Amino acid sequence: MEIPQHNLALDLARVTETAALASARWLGKGDKNAGDQAAVDAMRLSFASMDIDGKIVIGEGEKDEAPMLYNGERVGSGRGVSMDIAVDPVEGTQLLAFGRPNAISVVAASPSGTMFDPGPSYYMKKLVVPPEAKNVIDIDAPVEENLIKISSAIGKDIEDLVVFVLDKPRHKDLINQIRKAGARIQLHTDGDVAGSLMAIDPTSEIDVMMGTGGTPEGVISACAIRSIGGEMLSKFDPQKEDEFEAMKKAGINLNQVFSVNELVKSDDLFFAATGISGGVFLPGVKYTGNGAETHSLVIRGKTGTIRYIKSVHNWKKLMRFSAIKYD
Ligand code: FBP
Repeated sequence: MEIPQHNLALDLARVTETAALASARWLGKGDKNAGDQAAVDAMRLSFASMDIDGKIVIGEGEKDEAPMLYNGERVGSGRGVSMDIAVDPVEGTQLLAFGRPNAISVVAASPSGTMFDPGPSYYMKKLVVPPEAKNVIDIDAPVEENLIKISSAIGKDIEDLVVFVLDKPRHKDLINQIRKAGARIQLHTDGDVAGSLMAIDPTSEIDVMMGTGGTPEGVISACAIRSIGGEMLSKFDPQKEDEFEAMKKAGINLNQVFSVNELVKSDDLFFAATGISGGVFLPGVKYTGNGAETHSLVIRGKTGTIRYIKSVHNWKKLMRFSAIKYD
């Protein structure tokens, strides 16, 4: 038996809080790059406080185009456990730029070598369901067949189901098929990590997430789904010729189907997300004049503990010494 161990997820919550606090200043200002940059800068400084030997597996991109939090960059003090790290300082940069709901800051960590490296893949087709429907889905089956099986597994009529779909031209056919099957749809311009988390959250009105989104976002979602329960089946779905060619060149099998356990191969993982713009999934940053409030979802995979943390930040004290400017 073990005495309680250090829960790294609580440290990660401070990292995502920092990024959310810094980037929420850009809410609705129409500048997605500035919002993202503020989050990246704050997140990087915050990581330095953690005693881990972290390697970014899912980051802001390759080193040449991403000066910070790039894939392969080491984060943390270098002392302590070796971890694979996934970061998305602002998941939903357009949501932030236009003040739309569900922009979040998110980080996941798992033991070194256990997190899937997307390589040249940018896009994946995903099907996310709650625990009751975990064993009935087949990502290669027709949409209607999956929806019939999901509705029966979760004990609802198909007309009761709500499917989260990203509002993208590539989903025209998917949307038609969902409508034909009789299910209802919530279209969101961005943010399929929030969509995946809502699909496995029994308190949300979303029952399923379907469609193609980012591969990095798929790996991040897998970390939360593996810990909370539910399933996400996914499959590479290259959207542009150069992505397709790069995957072909790397000899990647486009027919492989991944479960969450293949995207992250350990239960000993940590996940934290903080709301930036607000929404049903996580309330956003609220500036209060003399500080701010943040709301975070914090998960430790090994114990299955899920925390919702409301933090109250005090500018008067914090801004006397903080290198990150929040006020
Ligand atoms: P960003 O924060 O990088 O803008 O990603 C937002 C997002 O909507 C993700 O949630 C989703 O996985 C991906 O973009 C979809 O990509 P695209 O907008 O190119 O279809």
